[in-house]
Amino acid sequence: MKHFLRGGAMSLVVALLAGCARLGGQRPAEQPLKIGLVAPITGSIATFGKSTRQGAALVFDRVNDQGGLLGRRIQVIVEDDAGKPEEAANVFTKLVNRDRVAAIVGSVATKCSFAGAPVCQRGGVPMITPASTNPKVTEIGDYIFRVCFVDPFQGEVIARFLVDNLGLKRVGIIYDLTNDYSAGLADYVEDNVEKLGGEVVSRQTFSEQDKSFKAQLTAMQARRPQAIFVSAYYTEAALVARQARQLGIAATLMGPDGWDSPMLVESGGDAVEGGYFSDHYSADSPNPRTQEFVAAYRERYGESPDALAALGYDAAGLLVDAIRRAGSAEGAAIRDVLAATTEYDGATGAISMDAERNARKPAVILQVKDGKFVLVETIAP
Ligand code: PHE
Repeated sequence: MKHFLRGGAMSLVVALLAGCARLGGQRPAEQPLKIGLVAPITGSIATFGKSTRQGAALVFDRVNDQGGLLGRRIQVIVEDDAGKPEEAANVFTKLVNRDRVAAIVGSVATKCSFAGAPVCQRGGVPMITPASTNPKVTEIGDYIFRVCFVDPFQGEVIARFLVDNLGLKRVGIIYDLTNDYSAGLADYVEDNVEKLGGEVVSRQTFSEQDKSFKAQLTAMQARRPQAIFVSAYYTEAALVARQARQLGIAATLMGPDGWDSPMLVESGGDAVEGGYFSDHYSADSPNPRTQEFVAAYRERYGESPDALAALGYDAAGLLVDAIRRAGSAEGAAIRDVLAATTEYDGATGAISMDAERNARKPAVILQVKDGKFVLVETIAP
């Protein structure tokens, strides 16, 4: 877990040698600059962690290859929260109190960021969540930032697409009531569907770890929804989709960003084919900055980057940029510079921080077609 950097010890040696050469044989510089990265490396949302880490590594390794940050080598300490808030509280506490990192990129799941943000805020350690979209995350304090859009916007995008674009007015919603992200989005989608003249004909719930959704889907089907919003991460979403099709439910399926995983198609198969979800970016975007990232990612990992990879890359890139602009690895200095971010040129688009430390950015709608995620539409905030 600790061997985050490509080549591990080797790149350390190279960095030190490079440092010596630059300093003309003087005493090689200071301690490494420690940055924490918290993500779900294991568990039911593990593809999120893998992508986030790979995206961030692209940035941190490049900086080290080019001589480091403020003359220091970046040492990334990767911690796995497994998508569980209790784990997140532990690893954030370790990073802040024991490792004394300068800043943290993470976490991914909203409920893990809820657990970690108070630790960062108390410790005066800036935190940038790449992907947690629930608005309450950044409300925790002035050290907490994000590079993604927020769920009130995502909920509006989903409702507009279903009701206005597809003309599907009778909407069913199923969500995980143990998950703040999932439950929050259920509300935002419902409010917006109704605002647009549609009707939420059924609202069904489940709990994390549930494997059968047939009772809820049967009850929902009695209300004849034309579309079902499955407010869940990919593991549950694939199960819901499969069971819906087994019950003969033909409604259009739609999800949020949490559907973005190769596992959605691997587990969901034909049941998710034709479904839609909202997301943060498309690898097919013509934006040159996006294409530069996509090429570098493909070359290193041999696969196409999903939204988590792009957001991990942007969170890491923005952090490095902020530390450079601040000229300091001190928490308050980094925080002030992050808060003043305007038009940072990210792989997921231009990032500007608003007064609530949220990024205002467009969303995309993707469709599952022949098992691939195809860009349907880009929606500006
Ligand atoms: N937005 C999700 C959350 O807050 C995390 C996520 C982001 C998942 C992007 C997939 C893609 O929990």
